[in-house]
Amino acid sequence: MLKQPNNLVVKAKAPSNIAFVKYWGKYGVQMPLNPSISMTLSHSYTETSWELIKSDSFSLEVYLDGELVPGFNKKITKWFDLLFTLNSEDFEFLKTSKSIIRTHNTFPHSTGIASSASAFGALAMCLAQLHAKLNSRELEVEEVSELARLGSGSAARSIEGPFCEWGKSSERYASAIKDIDTKFQNLKDAICIVSSKEKEISSTIGHGMMDEHVFKDARIKQANKNYHDIINAMQNGDLMEFGRILEQEALSLHALMMSSHDSYTLLEGNSIELIKAVRQWRQAHKEPLFFTLDAGPNLHLIYPASIEEKVRSFLSSNEVSSLVSNIIYDELGSGAQVCN
Ligand code: PMV
Repeated sequence: MLKQPNNLVVKAKAPSNIAFVKYWGKYGVQMPLNPSISMTLSHSYTETSWELIKSDSFSLEVYLDGELVPGFNKKITKWFDLLFTLNSEDFEFLKTSKSIIRTHNTFPHSTGIASSASAFGALAMCLAQLHAKLNSRELEVEEVSELARLGSGSAARSIEGPFCEWGKSSERYASAIKDIDTKFQNLKDAICIVSSKEKEISSTIGHGMMDEHVFKDARIKQANKNYHDIINAMQNGDLMEFGRILEQEALSLHALMMSSHDSYTLLEGNSIELIKAVRQWRQAHKEPLFFTLDAGPNLHLIYPASIEEKVRSFLSSNEVSSLVSNIIYDELGSGAQVCN
């Protein structure tokens, strides 16, 4: 290892992502029970700076928008512990440093945009830079994705873009999907906020409920088939088949929550009303507008840029305005970046 300078500062930003085929349930050290596919977002990202100060012992301070948030220390310390176990030599420098992490999200909290994906994506990008400086070896993109995965599974898919898969070619890291038809190369995501209440059940608890789930084997089978079929649809330019799978995946995720041993519901009445409105609009206009859901009540509406104007007019109608409190317009992005 190189001699550590007294002070190092690195910066990076990483986008959030929305899954088309959902990762739900895990085993071992953050390995997914099933393969997943996602769209990398563009405007919804986390920007992070990481200052490493040489010290006799380990310490950590995390700031969100300038405010100290001791609540984040537990998650990040758990991440460090995993790194020490799996890669003990490479990250030894953390044990003799004070880390000051300053972070900012471009999107509001609890809106159905996965902040843990962008947060750990940005942290992994920063850690990769510290690693390169102190161990004089640049990490491969797969290794950065693996670092992100150890913080939050879906963060593995926030390093690259525009589409990523995780859990098929490797369970350790995500990779960009190649040869997608041009019809998918300008996808948009209108995130419709039905409720920004804090989730009652975290995704960590939800993943855990899959261990003993009565539909566990059926879900793994369904996700593998959907994974295969949605890639085919995306490579063949079949938007309608893509949308069918997208919506089935979203509702399957919530059906798994509702049918867990300790059943729970994250959807709100207005989520269901909006699902119905989107399906009716699609039927009436014969246009490829589809919904998906994360682990929460807010809908992500996915559509090609060619129908942007029509979608915006639908979303500004009284029918939709009465169901949602805010809409965040996002689109396909190309992945995480180092900032200077
Ligand atoms: O990365 P986690 O542990 O927060 O899990 C996220 C799971 C879902 O967002 C519900 C689905 C997915 O594949 O992103």
